[in-house]
Amino acid sequence: MCRRSLFPQLLKRTIKPNGGAADRRSIFLWGQDDLHFARVNVEQAAYIGSAQPADSIRRSNEMSPNTLLTIGQQFSRRSWAEPWKIKMVEPLHMSSREEREKALHKAGFNTFLLRSDDVYIDLLTDSGTGAMSDRQWAGMMLGDEAYAGSRNFYHLESAVQKFYGYKYIVPTHQGRGAEHLISKVAIKPGQYVPGNMYFTTTRLHQELAGGIFVDVIIDEAHDPQILHPFKGNIDLDKLETLIKREGADNIAYVSVAGTVNMAGGQPVSMANIKDLRDLTKRHGIKLFLDATRMVENAFFIQEREDGYADKSIAEILREFCGYSDAAWMSAKKDSLVNIGGWLAVNDEEMFEELRNLVVVYEGLHTYGGLAGRDLEAMAIGIAESVQDEHIQSRIGQVRYLGELLTTWNIPIVHPVGGHAIFLDAKAFYPQLEQIKFPAQTLAAELYLDSGIRSMERGIASAGRNAETGDHNYPKLELTRLTIPRRVYTQAHMDVVAESVRAVYENRDQTRGLKMVHEPKYLRFFQARFERL
Ligand SMILES: Cc1ncc(COP(=O)(O)O)c(C=O)c1O
Repeated sequence: MCRRSLFPQLLKRTIKPNGGAADRRSIFLWGQDDLHFARVNVEQAAYIGSAQPADSIRRSNEMSPNTLLTIGQQFSRRSWAEPWKIKMVEPLHMSSREEREKALHKAGFNTFLLRSDDVYIDLLTDSGTGAMSDRQWAGMMLGDEAYAGSRNFYHLESAVQKFYGYKYIVPTHQGRGAEHLISKVAIKPGQYVPGNMYFTTTRLHQELAGGIFVDVIIDEAHDPQILHPFKGNIDLDKLETLIKREGADNIAYVSVAGTVNMAGGQPVSMANIKDLRDLTKRHGIKLFLDATRMVENAFFIQEREDGYADKSIAEILREFCGYSDAAWMSAKKDSLVNIGGWLAVNDEEMFEELRNLVVVYEGLHTYGGLAGRDLEAMAIGIAESVQDEHIQSRIGQVRYLGELLTTWNIPIVHPVGGHAIFLDAKAFYPQLEQIKFPAQTLAAELYLDSGIRSMERGIASAGRNAETGDHNYPKLELTRLTIPRRVYTQAHMDVVAESVRAVYENRDQTRGLKMVHEPKYLRFFQARFERL
């Protein structure tokens, strides 16, 4: 079948080579909307993969202007729907602008300091904010609250071994509990920890253990407009240069995050992790994975990388993890629970050390700061999270919001990633210098407009340089609209998109913020601001 005709919106724009070294024969043809693409085999001049097949109905001249089209039809594809139905609802508070003005002043213009009762649609984070399934809630009733050896721990252990493939598991209360332990065990003071961009808590724990973080992500990740299918990839040349300069013994481990949060939820290719595995093996360096959003990463590999279209998400996840020595996890994301995390390693000696240390900071090694019921919900959530139809609808919803904003020419990070839409605050407010906190300002304005809570991922999140004390000035100044899993509907996404547009239309009026209170650690959580 000639699939070319199914992609009318393609072939109009940029052609970008796939970043994976092992995949040079593929090119990506990106649609004019920056969201849809087809993958083409250059030698055979044939389509070998695509984002979505097209629907036969599109708006035509014969149609009345009043004819309503589904969003799928507008984008020449079949619509998707969630693979679940709603059994219980939680009413939301819809506030007035006056109430929101008061609440925002009280919160020092920091959306982290708002009370959730004052929020209408909460897109602060996808962390611990998902809806559990009826199976997970049923599992909570089967919590074995024994101090030691709870049966739910063994269920979790089996689920991690089965789906992620590591040998030894240590539960922790959430992701940063795991980051703390692994940083303490694996980093000697003064050692370097190269990674694909940074995550706030990950980098802080590495630094508190005496490590020096070095960003070795590909350059494309720092540009919100470049279309690259795997913007989370590690730049192997940058890494090799660091290893040669500092010596392999001075590298604690390479830290790879599956879908890079701070880059806009951008994935890492299988080709890249394989090459990275070869490189680190040659130098005798360990490779550790932040598996927090690895299931979402697996979706992008299935969609975009040669040889993976017919593999299941579970198969791709297992293969990817197989190229690493250890992983830590904030189960509050992919694994569909409100609290929980774990550490997993293949090395028995390291496991012994971690199992000993978890007792000091989290709790006994079979509960790690969690109740038995939490461990059970996590075990069930892991199995639900790797179902192909779940992840397709999860990312489909994020893309839907991205499609709306893109067609309205609102500046967002492209390509749209796995868990959030990132508004490009520098492009939104070109009149604001970075020190006027454009992304923080945008989060505040969105809240005022409609009660939607988003968060800053820019200069406030980047903190200060440990040596000079100056602000870090990240290239990306983003406001994140993070979509909780299985919580909001398409109608909520429409309301969000319209609010972003309303704020965009008033962007010229905005003058920015100044920071008036700055906490020492992870300042973005508790900093306070005033209007300029
Ligand atoms: C990529 C990544 N790693 C680690 C963490 C830390 O996990 P937690 O919030 O469960 O402590 C997060 C949290 O947002 C994250 O996004």
